[in-house]
Amino acid sequence: MSAVRAGSAGPQARIRRRAWTAALAAVAFGCAYFFVRQFLKDAVRRFDATLVNKSFGTASLFLIALSMALTGIAVLSRPGSMALAYRKDLGLAGFWIGLAHGAVEHVLLPVLGLQSESGPGTRHAEALGLVALVLFALMALASNDRARGKMGPRAWRLFLRYAGYAGLILGAAHAAGLKAASWGRYFRTFRPVLPSLSLPVALFAAAAILLRLAVWPRIRKRSGGRPTSASPGP
Ligand code: HEM
Repeated sequence: MSAVRAGSAGPQARIRRRAWTAALAAVAFGCAYFFVRQFLKDAVRRFDATLVNKSFGTASLFLIALSMALTGIAVLSRPGSMALAYRKDLGLAGFWIGLAHGAVEHVLLPVLGLQSESGPGTRHAEALGLVALVLFALMALASNDRARGKMGPRAWRLFLRYAGYAGLILGAAHAAGLKAASWGRYFRTFRPVLPSLSLPVALFAAAAILLRLAVWPRIRKRSGGRPTSASPGP
């Protein structure tokens, strides 16, 4: 029994480690990107918690979009692809980093006397982010065998599928509500050279949703209408 456990813990632990490595790399990349962009835009060479906060937000949206995109990628890949195995840990990493983003925004920045950019629609956009975070938290709570047993496999899969896509859409709408002016300015002027990182990440989130819609008929055909393991996990 213990030998079986030891054998099966290995691949799972490796997948978790890789997912968190990808998550930390996304945060580090975001910090460097926002620092360089700030320099190009305002000639400011300052690194502070507001840049880390932006990076947490974009990394969270990226990881959750990637987790959802893996469903479509798995359907299009050859049999035996490992894509589905990474969905849960990438989604969980995205949730924890999203939670850190909300906490930095509401707790750390005020303590440090810093403030993120804000505008007339900030309150509504923040509310969308909060609802997305609550959905991801519910998914994280449900992402275990006990919850699966209690809810039944069909309801469990449907919940994870619809909560995941609703959360992703709300997360992208939250970013759009806060950054639409910056994205619009970029498309009009192409200045600064680098757009806000949230722009390509939100486009990636939209692509993940479109990909899922595109493979929907294939998944339905394979499963005869029943939810399958290609349904997205948290
Ligand atoms: C309690 C929940 C949340 C609050 C209060 C919140 C608040 C904020 C604020 C104030 C900003 C503007 C930061 C700035 O421009 O300096 C922001 C940006 C952003 N947030 Fe959130 N957020 C929350 C949850 C989330 C979640 C769950 C996601 C991802 C799924 C997310 C993704 C983003 C993204 C992508 C940006 C744009 C970063 C940029 O390009 O500057 N947020 N958020």
